[in-house]
Amino acid sequence: MLYILDTGNLEDIRHCNAFYPLAGVTTNPSIIAREKTDFWKLVSGIREIIGEEKMLHVQTVQTTAEKMVEEAQLLKEKIGGMLYIKVPIGEEGLKATMELKKLGIGVTMTAIFTSAQALIAAKAGADFVAPYVNRLDNIIGDGSRVVAEIVHVLEAYQLDCKVLAASFKNAQQVHDCAMAGCQSVTVSADILKAIITHPMTDAAVAGFQRDWNETYGGQTILEL
Ligand code: E4P
Repeated sequence: MLYILDTGNLEDIRHCNAFYPLAGVTTNPSIIAREKTDFWKLVSGIREIIGEEKMLHVQTVQTTAEKMVEEAQLLKEKIGGMLYIKVPIGEEGLKATMELKKLGIGVTMTAIFTSAQALIAAKAGADFVAPYVNRLDNIIGDGSRVVAEIVHVLEAYQLDCKVLAASFKNAQQVHDCAMAGCQSVTVSADILKAIITHPMTDAAVAGFQRDWNETYGGQTILEL
């Protein structure tokens, strides 16, 4: 499982990159716009924090294949490192994906809502397909079932494409996707925290501390 952070907030990226086994960062035009700052400064700030080896997914804002490819090449040149261009599924997006693959540029096909869309995206050469789990759940579309179907169809046709499940609102949705065999998820800092939090864990840790302190008067092993 690859855990990716779905944000453009540099503080969250700095924090999560230090505390979690993060594989990278995903953004989209809405996420970037939320930061209300210079685009190039923001994406190079993200790259600086995560380094060249971790994935950065940046979405094209173009609407024709030709311009998507041109924009992707500029992003590749200016951001560098392990970069994936997010391209929305559609005719122009598929054409751009096939061309970007010829140029050796990584592609994440995004705004995926069905396994049929995911299958054709993978056939076009997408490295990742990003189904929107919570947006499906919101319309009673069973996001994790769609993710399970995509995992199945990509395996059945032996396609070299990973599922990057996206659009989560809670930890249960993420876990359901993990149980469906999804290879990567992109989540907020709050969801990462929710994944590792459990009241029984807090109680266990408090108990260890209380018992230790009663005997060793608050000294740690380093101090004994
Ligand atoms: C991935 O980056 C997707 O664009 C993102 O997870 C969508 O999330 P939302 O449905 O919360 O906007």
